[in-house]
Amino acid sequence: MKEIVLSGIRSTGNLHLGNYYGALRKFVNIQDDYDCNFFIADLHALTTSTDPAALHASVKSVLAEYLAAGIDPEKATIFIQSDIPEISEMYLLLNMHVGIGELMRTASFKDKARKALGIATGDSQADDSEEAFEREIIGASTNKRVNAGLLTYPTLMAVDILIQKATKVPVGKDQLQHLELTRRFARRFNSFYGVDLFPEPTDFDFGGAPVKVPGLDGSGKMGKSEGNCIYLTDDPKVLRKKVMRATTDEGPQAPNSPMSEPVANLFTLLELTSTPEVVTHFRDAYADCSIRYGDLKKQLAEDILAVTTPIRERVSDILANEDYLRRVVRDGAERARARASETLKEVRHIMGIRPL
Ligand code: ADP
Ligand code: TRP
Repeated sequence: MKEIVLSGIRSTGNLHLGNYYGALRKFVNIQDDYDCNFFIADLHALTTSTDPAALHASVKSVLAEYLAAGIDPEKATIFIQSDIPEISEMYLLLNMHVGIGELMRTASFKDKARKALGIATGDSQADDSEEAFEREIIGASTNKRVNAGLLTYPTLMAVDILIQKATKVPVGKDQLQHLELTRRFARRFNSFYGVDLFPEPTDFDFGGAPVKVPGLDGSGKMGKSEGNCIYLTDDPKVLRKKVMRATTDEGPQAPNSPMSEPVANLFTLLELTSTPEVVTHFRDAYADCSIRYGDLKKQLAEDILAVTTPIRERVSDILANEDYLRRVVRDGAERARARASETLKEVRHIMGIRPL
């Protein structure tokens, strides 16, 4: 029996190089060796996205990007979260064992709630104290609202994992707290009812060093909300322009100078996408001050394109084949539902929801 791996990406827009190197490429690399389950977290996307047309389009594009990047539906189960109604039911049941306090203390909740309320941390004008946060959350002094789905986001994520009894969950660093909560909920359920139903899932980095893909704006991380992304589906013109505009500095002033963060970021991208010879060439040029950032960027743009072009081309073919897309998610949902309904049946029975 292969170990069960499960991971999902929210359908909140096109996938970028960070998603590719941080998640997608790893999914592809392990699909032969594990019982892999990759899904599109559209219910999770609902916690922050309110445009139905955009959500619908994004589910389809993320699915096409999964397939175009090389996830093989013959090897891995690919499904859409909302196609598994058992998840929603178990989410209701598990919420009975989750404390609102522990949810409110989750870092991602605090961040997103602050954003929803317009309490920007770091803004000297804003009162960003804990008291202000709590006052605002219960609506004492504002008509803005933090939706309850955002609060219970970790319950839903725990259910995604536990309902499949997955033991390995490949996620980025930002998701580790959610995984910790998942383990806590699993332990709590098992011990409350005196059962041994849920295994405790762990993070999974496939043995490779974790990658953090930097942004083009000199910042630490490429991310959808950062607005600094290279998308897998960017056409060559757009992509070249983005790379050529990437932040740099005035160039090394003396041999073997340390690199500024924006320049180091370009080298990180080059290491991910170019050959070792190319990387060495530019490192040497940096060290002896002969480097021209324009040349480095031109090379980088072409090397990124070599990675993204085949994916972009496959995405457009795959999107045109609606029957194929429907078939993939129908088969995936069937497989994911089989296991989910087994688990839900056990959970209902354990909790006392039993036929008369
Ligand atoms: P975003 O931060 O752009 O909203 P998500 O939170 O939807 O992306 O991330 C989906 C997956 O991609 C997660 O597993 C996350 O860890 C990974 N990921 C996102 N951005 C990066 C990045 N810059 N470097 C490495 N991995 C990333
Ligand atoms: N919360 C994850 C993210 O924002 C997406 C996700 C939802 C997920 N459910 C999951 C990831 C279950 C792994 C397992 O990236």
